[in-house]
Amino acid sequence: MNLHKTVAAQVQAAFDQAGIGQHPLVLQPAKNADLGDFQINGVMAAAKKSGQNPRELAQKVADALADNAVIARAEVAGPGFINLRLQPDFLAEQLQAALASPNGHVSQAAKPQTVVIDYSSPNLAKEMHVGHLRSSIIGDSLKRVIRHLGHTVIAQNHVGDWGTQFGMLVAYMVAQQQENAAFELADLEQFYRNAKVRFDEDPAFADTARDYVVKLQSGDETVLALWRQFVHTSLQHAQAIYDQLGLLLQQSDVMGESAYNTMLQDTVDALAAKGIAVDDNGTKVVFLDEFKNHDGDPAAFIIQKQGGGFLYSSTDLACIRYRVDSLKTDRILYVVDARQSLHFAQLFAVAKKAAWLPENVSAEHVPFGTMMGKDNKPFKTRSGETVKLVDLLNEATERATALVQSKNPDLSAEQAAHIGRVVGIGAVKYADLSKNRTSDYVFDWDNMLSFEGNTAPYLQYAYTRVQSVFKKAGQWDEHATPVLTETLEQQLALELLKFEDVLNSVADSANPHYLAAYLYQVATLFSRFYEACPILKAEGNTRNTRLQLAKFTGTVLQQGLGLLGIETLDVM
Ligand code: ARG
Repeated sequence: MNLHKTVAAQVQAAFDQAGIGQHPLVLQPAKNADLGDFQINGVMAAAKKSGQNPRELAQKVADALADNAVIARAEVAGPGFINLRLQPDFLAEQLQAALASPNGHVSQAAKPQTVVIDYSSPNLAKEMHVGHLRSSIIGDSLKRVIRHLGHTVIAQNHVGDWGTQFGMLVAYMVAQQQENAAFELADLEQFYRNAKVRFDEDPAFADTARDYVVKLQSGDETVLALWRQFVHTSLQHAQAIYDQLGLLLQQSDVMGESAYNTMLQDTVDALAAKGIAVDDNGTKVVFLDEFKNHDGDPAAFIIQKQGGGFLYSSTDLACIRYRVDSLKTDRILYVVDARQSLHFAQLFAVAKKAAWLPENVSAEHVPFGTMMGKDNKPFKTRSGETVKLVDLLNEATERATALVQSKNPDLSAEQAAHIGRVVGIGAVKYADLSKNRTSDYVFDWDNMLSFEGNTAPYLQYAYTRVQSVFKKAGQWDEHATPVLTETLEQQLALELLKFEDVLNSVADSANPHYLAAYLYQVATLFSRFYEACPILKAEGNTRNTRLQLAKFTGTVLQQGLGLLGIETLDVM
């Protein structure tokens, strides 16, 4: 249920009755639960505009909210705020409806959109490293949330599979085959490094590499076949990581840079024909007045190099056209490192000038900060190398397995391995998703694997605790009419009913940490309720009501974690 919308509708009616229906009502969840459940902040502004006394006007609105089926109490506070307390019977009714609903009482979007999410998008020349983790995890969670709200989501894995590096890699493949060396694509990272050394040290090899780039671009079948072989292997590496992480990404989501190759010249020509791109000493450039360079002149967005070569920018322009025209998207989210902010701002500006990005399509860069080590420098191995994702994920599982084994020595090796994987991968994902994505964050094993605080293990454990209640509950009536008498019962019901509001704010802002913060709040509130309101020892309808609350808590925790891409366990 959309709680916010439901309460806002009541407030709107009261605003209408008080003669200020045309003013925004600004309804927010209350900051202090002791004062109310929601707060109306819009009356002061309305009073100012209509020349009325704010407190008197607020009282009028509050009076209009008397005898309301949703709102139990409306109290004027301060200069003209109104604190609202919801009706316990209304909350109980919604709790009952929630228990009957299969998807956490979340309604489907009235106007479903087609949303493209560009995420993960590693460069295939190298193995995936920690720099790709954030985009993969954040993008995947956004896909799950937006899809859950009833939209169609198209994942696009814009892998870097084209460009000069691939000439070098293909040349090295050929050299290795000629020298009958074992073909070692198994370790892509090492392969890239060896190729690079050869490129830097052997001028003949470097010439061949450059020649291969040209052949690749002109569609030479022999070189293309080798390139395909390389890309295929690299994609398999990536897919293994996606599977280990439990991401939704599949090979069919791959739409790499190479896919746009045939559209690039046309894209540049079209911009030139529209007079948007100009020739600047043989380079094709779009000058952007709204972006200034160091000298205060319009910034140059280069779309084709001297000699005809294309760039990252050219590909992204062709790609926008494809997403708008062929995928018919309403919204595009680019989950890409914050360091590319300028690129995207300029890209969108050019696409708008060319009318390739119409008003009704929203293109949004969803930036994120860097993953740091405990030393507050970008996360590296002890010897200062980039950390391969596969190593990081294996370590997460190993650490978590050891941890659950030490907490619960009775687990079989198989059980411990399963729980260890769910907890370890969950911890890595949650550590990322629970942080405000725009800031850098410190990757710290001990913090993320702690069973206390805002962590995956804490939330996963909270879920199993709820499940264990039902193992002992025996017979109870799930369809009983709940009655919420205790304050903590009401608070928990209220919090649980905000699930859809939270998902909407995650989808709108592309901020999964809102959902993480909410789930943490739900889990802590549940444990307070659990302490204060005995569940199994209660009797009659009180027992049923509390079990209903526990049941819905379990659903929200499981679904919420699931929307972050995190699994739950019945025992741990
Ligand atoms: N491959 C790029 C990188 O690793 C990210 C691509 C993001 N998507 C895009 N459409 N530019 O930096």
